[in-house]
Amino acid sequence: MTDRPAGPVVLLDSGVGGLSVLAAIRRRLPDLPCVYCADTAGFPYGTKGEAEVSARVAGLVGRLSERIRPALVVIACNTASTIALGWLRPVIACPVVGTVPAIKPAAARSRTRVIGVLGTEATIRQPYVDALARDHAADCRVLRFGSSALVAAAEAKLRGEPVDPAVPAAALAGLLDQPDGERLDTVVLACTHFPLLAAELAAAAPRALAFVDGAEGIARRVEALLGDRRPPPAPGRFLATGPLAPLAPLAPALQELGLVTIAQLEGGGGA
Ligand code: DGL
Repeated sequence: MTDRPAGPVVLLDSGVGGLSVLAAIRRRLPDLPCVYCADTAGFPYGTKGEAEVSARVAGLVGRLSERIRPALVVIACNTASTIALGWLRPVIACPVVGTVPAIKPAAARSRTRVIGVLGTEATIRQPYVDALARDHAADCRVLRFGSSALVAAAEAKLRGEPVDPAVPAAALAGLLDQPDGERLDTVVLACTHFPLLAAELAAAAPRALAFVDGAEGIARRVEALLGDRRPPPAPGRFLATGPLAPLAPLAPALQELGLVTIAQLEGGGGA
């Protein structure tokens, strides 16, 4: 790994969710050259089966690694990470950082020992999440709820569209209305799209709840892995696997994070 060229850091998500991870990386490493790839042709991942998500992620990470030769890949998506991280790491030549539900920090801060995991339908059913709950929250009741409506609402918000307050309210009710939900005090935002709706979720909460996500931890991990071999600054790029026209309203949000060009990934989204 020592003789790899200092390529940019690649981030991958199905859509704009990984921008919540990029924002945390930018706070620590403002000049880090980043290529953000949105698998818009495969969006959403959370309602798909494991085989389909695996195939798409394998195809994309393989192609991006070959073409861009990244210093590091961040799978900025809980769905893809909990499904594919295990087999992906050994087959990719650079370090791969995943985004997995922040159950450990949530368990560390919960007083009531009831925590909620709000993710996609696919994420909340993964054995990876069972293992996190068993290893880091064994003395907690861990409630889970999957919401694809919240993913769609985050995408709409970044396009500048209004968010219907009923959507975050229904997602929280999906946790709070379960047995023991009345004692829940901490919610893991286990989908990278959800921190983009932090204000809407807080406003929809019927009582004070703590919201926890893993973005800061990922940024720290990226900084530590790169060490003093940080690639030289370069303009950030946003690549999409689907058509570009529907992405035009995202330009201001992307610019803010240093993603100055938007292009289609050659070869589209097929794995
Ligand atoms: N942002 C993704 C996640 O963290 C997935 C959203 C989706 O495509 O359903 O799980």
